[in-house]
Amino acid sequence: MKKTSNKVVLIGAGAVGTSFMYAAINQGVAENYVLIDAFPQAAEGNALDLADTMAVLPTSFTSIKAGNYADCGDADVIVITAGRPQKEGETRLDMVAGNAIIMKSIAEEVKKSGFKGITVIASNPVDVLTYVYQKVTGFDEHKVIGSGTTLDSARLRRLVADKLKVSAQSVNAFLAGEHGDSSVAVWSHATVMEKPIFKYIEEGKISQAELDQIREDAVHMAYKIIELKRATFYGIGVCLTRIVKAVLRDEMVTLMVGAKLNGEFNNKDVYTGVPAIIGKDGWSEIINWDLTKKEQEQFNASCSTLKESIAKAEV
Ligand code: 2OP
Repeated sequence: MKKTSNKVVLIGAGAVGTSFMYAAINQGVAENYVLIDAFPQAAEGNALDLADTMAVLPTSFTSIKAGNYADCGDADVIVITAGRPQKEGETRLDMVAGNAIIMKSIAEEVKKSGFKGITVIASNPVDVLTYVYQKVTGFDEHKVIGSGTTLDSARLRRLVADKLKVSAQSVNAFLAGEHGDSSVAVWSHATVMEKPIFKYIEEGKISQAELDQIREDAVHMAYKIIELKRATFYGIGVCLTRIVKAVLRDEMVTLMVGAKLNGEFNNKDVYTGVPAIIGKDGWSEIINWDLTKKEQEQFNASCSTLKESIAKAEV
């Protein structure tokens, strides 16, 4: 029988997961939501808190409840945000050992549930843990999506927009590769209303040094926010919502998600942030850009860093 409503299961009802839920219910992304957490009270309390929005939201949904892995069986999308959060001064890759163990056990449980849908992962280090999850579940790699560099690129766009005094939505600019310190600013493909960013340099509206600083600021944004308020969650919550919406509505939109390379960008056997087409079957295709020599070298270095980390995850 054809299903008439969508079900989204969240695994990890902490600050990132519940920020995703809050954005998703506000945007009317699905009809049914389930929260799973290693601490059942956190799932239950957040489900009740979020259910309080039902009568007054501008959009509607049917149900939200705390659940368990049996709920994954007939879900359309699973969003995984579980894991230990990043501490001040720590890199995302520093968290690999502990969070890889958590991710392996989640992957086993999801596999046992008979889940056939799309998984979207944000747990850090996201590129490595997306790889681990896909490997352990054996799911079609197209159906496993990492949050990749959606958030990094959103940060970059906002910072460029501030400088050029245009809206962030008018800027197309991208960080690719690791969601983390080795990400690559792909300035060769950055535009504002189809006009290459390099033209803005020629016109004296922005300089290469300023673009370099913007890349640094975008990459360090998470550290800055963690220093100020101990965690980041709203930005990633909305990025996850964007990806899930693209899946449930079969948008075939291009986003900078974590997809598995198979020769694209001259790399393979690694999940990382690249432009990919997102619809009901997950990421269907990676848009393979020609990078400049320097960008390609940086991208290769980012993939090597991730592969070293994957080796540490012992999958
Ligand atoms: C972020 O970039 C910490 O990965 C998280 O906000």
